Amino acid sequence: MWKTIIEPFRIHAVEPIRMTTREEREADLEQAGWNLFRIPAERVLIDLLTDSGTGSMSNEQWAGIQRGDESYAGSRSWYRFREAVRELFPFEHLIPTHQGRAAEKILFSALAGPGETVPNNTHFDTTRANVEFTGAEAVDLPIPEARVPSSRHPFKGNMDVGALRRLLAGADVPVVFVTVTNNSGGGQPVSMENLRAVRGVCDEHDVPLYLDACRFAENAWFVKLREDGYSGIPISDIVRETAALADGMTMSAKKDPLGNIGGWLAMDDPDLAERCRNLLILTEGFPTYGGMAGRDMDALAQGLLEAVDEDYLRYRIRSTEYLGEALDGAGIPVVLPVGGHAVYIDARALLPHIPPLEYPGQALAVALHREGGIRGCEIGTVMFGRRPDGRETPAAMDLVRLAIPRRTYTQSHIDYVIEVCRWVAERADRLRGFRIVEEPPTLRHFTARFESLG
Ligand code: F0G
Repeated sequence: MWKTIIEPFRIHAVEPIRMTTREEREADLEQAGWNLFRIPAERVLIDLLTDSGTGSMSNEQWAGIQRGDESYAGSRSWYRFREAVRELFPFEHLIPTHQGRAAEKILFSALAGPGETVPNNTHFDTTRANVEFTGAEAVDLPIPEARVPSSRHPFKGNMDVGALRRLLAGADVPVVFVTVTNNSGGGQPVSMENLRAVRGVCDEHDVPLYLDACRFAENAWFVKLREDGYSGIPISDIVRETAALADGMTMSAKKDPLGNIGGWLAMDDPDLAERCRNLLILTEGFPTYGGMAGRDMDALAQGLLEAVDEDYLRYRIRSTEYLGEALDGAGIPVVLPVGGHAVYIDARALLPHIPPLEYPGQALAVALHREGGIRGCEIGTVMFGRRPDGRETPAAMDLVRLAIPRRTYTQSHIDYVIEVCRWVAERADRLRGFRIVEEPPTLRHFTARFESLG
């Protein structure tokens, strides 16, 4: 009946943010080599760098922190955590890790190697890096609409099933991955219909299907809203149906499970689970805590319950859409429809005078911080332009992601973000590109240093 969707919580503890001046931010940027990952967080006003581990925990999650049982083996927290995970993802084997990339590292070390190919709708940066580190090739197979920021396809996270079939006919593929929601592709959902079709093709070739399931609840909410036959189905049932289509999963519990740290790897295959557990013990920890403290596991057990709460998801998805709609309404090109956890500005379209190899996404991300203290994240040629053979080519898109931490900022913070984005966009023709003066061999976006071309 009411059109205003309110935050379904009251604020229980506050964390002050310090106002900064444009001059301070300019000096910080200069010192950081124009890389926003190098800026101290206390100098950032609104931190939209990531939705990963940056959310606010509920009072019940903090209570879970107190309940945490730190026994080395078989702690009560482990059993509570395992039950909460199995309630949604009933895989036989659950392997707890400190975050998503640890699960990826273990799985790909056990599964992939030189000469093999791992397809995904779109690999996230760490997923791609972990595949490539084994010598295997990481291939993205999104549907064509996924690469057209203005296309309003309701499930732009879908995988191109025809392309997958062609790949499986020729390549040596140890596992097929589907990322829900598709983060690098704009936080876009994958439909159940698409997932079933992918499953069918995997079955034809007897290849296992794994989910990179960080944003499973947001994906399920989009399925409920947009896919025929799902409007009356509870979110937790949609999640279980998603899990039932897969043979296993990797998870960063820093996203939808509302944790500040944590993750897991899960699967049905007992032999693979055994090999993964052996690697877990080498790098993470004993199999009943892996990379987490008991208290982290308790916070996550509670977070998983809250993640599938429909009042929360309605607010969550609507508040992201609110930002996206305002930017779109102001004529700023954004990936449409608006994704679940973030709004992605199409920097290549906003800054046509900056060629991709001069990093339009970096130029825009730097400007948003300099002008308004807003830290976003380039997802484009800086992140994905360097190929394993050393060549540099433009990424499929040059985006700036404004990721919304869960339950952390209010509507007035977002109204401020809208105002700053509009101000910067109105002066977009004044922005200049960058060149990289220092970069590591992989995942260069985290530590590279830049020089302005202006
Ligand atoms: N898969 C996806 C789809 C992700 O978005 C991330 C992390 C990971 C795997 C790795 O998980 O960080 O716990 O090791 N994404 C964060 C982001 C960092 O900003 O989108 P992790």
